[in-house]
Amino acid sequence: MIRVFPTLEELAQDAAKLICQVAGERIQKSGRCTIALSGGQTPKTLYNFLASDLYRDRINWSQVEIFFSDERSVPPDHADSNYRMAWELMLSRLPMAKGQIHRMKAEQTDLSAAAADYQVEIANRFGISPEGPPPSLDIIILGMGGDGHTASLFPGTEVLQENQKWVSVGQGGSPKSGRMTLTVPLLNAAKQILFLVSGSEKESALKSVLAEEGDPFRYPARLIRPNSGELIWFVDVKAMDEDSQGREK
Ligand code: 6PG
Repeated sequence: MIRVFPTLEELAQDAAKLICQVAGERIQKSGRCTIALSGGQTPKTLYNFLASDLYRDRINWSQVEIFFSDERSVPPDHADSNYRMAWELMLSRLPMAKGQIHRMKAEQTDLSAAAADYQVEIANRFGISPEGPPPSLDIIILGMGGDGHTASLFPGTEVLQENQKWVSVGQGGSPKSGRMTLTVPLLNAAKQILFLVSGSEKESALKSVLAEEGDPFRYPARLIRPNSGELIWFVDVKAMDEDSQGREK
């Protein structure tokens, strides 16, 4: 399903409403809601809304567990840190205990070991074995780069073929560095995925992804197809070309 908006502001408002709705349903049904946050610029407006007076009280944050879709290999106080961005814009403004926020420790020298530790941390919060199939997070927020990458799943990289691990090491992006990332198996196990895409620089990649054209390993966002959950594209008009608008489902 594709929702097209005139502005990023309206896109973020609609995404915030969906997140409040799904979180409320999940907390009512299972007593908690697990959310993975994306990095980058696009979700900033959404994170601001979720922590604002307009939306903050629509979610019982004491029942929410926060994870991350990916992280750059920088300390948590670095300007490039996805954690820092989410903390400053949203998490620091929400009534949550530190133990509810699961930061990816991607600054560690041994990124593979840090990724394995994060997988254990996820497994522990779900009360399952880290050796088994991935758990189903309730909500995963993703962005997409102009090259079709998502999380830190970059075109042509090894991690795209990962079909066992839930968390692994990605390569690419800027700053050009190692990254920690959730993998396709974990992402596709989610109940609700929101893809937030804004800006004309995304138009070409978005067109290929939505048309399901070309090599999916060239446009990793195409690999995100929930096993049984729902994926909704939140796109602004700048990122959406006319042909794709006709394809709006
Ligand atoms: C990151 C993100 C990444 C992001 C895309 C889109 O660490 O950068 O997780 O996958 O979602 O690069 O980024 P923008 O929203 O800044 O365009």
